Amino acid sequence: MAKDKTVFVCQNCGYISPKWAGKCSNCNSWNSFIEEIRYSEPKGLHSKSEAKPGNAIKISEIRKQQLSRIELPYSEFNRVLGGGLVPGSLVLLGGEPGIGKSTLVLQTVLNLDKRKVLYVSGEESENQIKLRAERIGINNENCFIYTETNIEKIIATIKSLEPEIIVIDSVQTVASADLTSSPGTVSQIRECTRILQEHAKEFDVPVILIGHINKDGDIAGPMSLEHIVDAVFQFEGDNNHYYRLLRPKKNRFGSTYEIGVFEMLNHGLKEITDPGNILLTGDNSGLSGVAYGTIGEGTRTLMIEIQTLIGNAVYSSPQRTSTGFDGRRFQMLLAVIEKKLGLNLSQKDAFVNIAGGIKVSDTAADLPVLASVISSYYDKPIPENTCFIGELGLSGQVRPVSFIDKRVGEARRLGFNNVFISSAQKSELNKNIAGIISVSDVKEFASKLFRPTN
Ligand code: TYD
Ligand code: MG
Repeated sequence: MAKDKTVFVCQNCGYISPKWAGKCSNCNSWNSFIEEIRYSEPKGLHSKSEAKPGNAIKISEIRKQQLSRIELPYSEFNRVLGGGLVPGSLVLLGGEPGIGKSTLVLQTVLNLDKRKVLYVSGEESENQIKLRAERIGINNENCFIYTETNIEKIIATIKSLEPEIIVIDSVQTVASADLTSSPGTVSQIRECTRILQEHAKEFDVPVILIGHINKDGDIAGPMSLEHIVDAVFQFEGDNNHYYRLLRPKKNRFGSTYEIGVFEMLNHGLKEITDPGNILLTGDNSGLSGVAYGTIGEGTRTLMIEIQTLIGNAVYSSPQRTSTGFDGRRFQMLLAVIEKKLGLNLSQKDAFVNIAGGIKVSDTAADLPVLASVISSYYDKPIPENTCFIGELGLSGQVRPVSFIDKRVGEARRLGFNNVFISSAQKSELNKNIAGIISVSDVKEFASKLFRPTN
């Protein structure tokens, strides 16, 4: 009989240590070690002496099989999956509590036509799920609900029911009776995922795993889970706002570039196939400190609204606060404006906010931030229907950004008649597009801002 031993497993990264430690030497997280019992495996068929050589094939001789995909009822979901669910694959859907993960998956499987689905819930009762289905307003004879957390029972049920799609809500609640550690620990999550994966591959069914994320935005539990599964999606948005973004972090069967956009309504989620202006708040004419820009999300362009307030400093050291925009980049932009335009910002408090609760990392948002700072400083509104697309360099030059034609096209489609861009990019655009204002540096930008001229 093999001897069992006690080990300490980091709940953040899965690192195993023979002794307890306050800090994980692998991922540097504190207080993450939990004691677990490891059953040492008996030496089986695959011990060194008995292993037979395997069959390696030349890549040119492998016959490519066409991936069959299960198309889901929402084009926004299919878009991020790369065309639909691939049978035999494991898909992990992460997101903060209450963001709408269960709603998205339940609504999707309820809308599927003639496909047997097993929805396993370890979090909610049958009654709660029924109430949600009623709220969404769909009934489906082929959708089976099973409230269970024991993975062995779940597998037995899968074998007898033979569903075509399996949903596990959530991976942190399921546990194997063969392990002593409690549900949600690294060993349990890993083991249950491994068992489900084996099953998914053997029976060629897709499994959707729902996972919680921790405060750092990672799927709670082991980071290694993200390596095991075929695709990882994050469902994100702001609880105060109605829109939700489905963003791929990893996808073995499609690109990680696309996003899916949904709207949370009282009766479930609605997909938004034309999301260009969902982040805008409405009429801001006559208000200073408000500017519009664009961000590229996959093959689509979203318009963003930037609100800035520059006021006299309340304390001896002025405050700089940014919401949705990188704080350090904001400081950098303020420093460039101060140096190149001579605005006295060192005695001012500066606040910037991206409307709609979205986090922006696209550098094309530099120019609208710059515009909103100047507008607020002089308390002078920016002319209506104006949009800004460009990155700012440290020496004050306005630099080119990617996909300029797409961004300009979307801005003009949504009624922005004046579009500021970097003069280095003017030649990339069709000469017949009117309303393009090209600027090469901050000084030229400031001189044209309130009087847009070509
Ligand atoms: P839920 O899917 O339970 O979130 P998660 O599984 O990510 O924890 O969604 C919960 C929230 O969504 C809840 O606050 C209520 C809201 N909601 C709606 O606004 N409309 C609806 O139709 C449904 C079903 C939920
Ligand atoms: Mg849920």
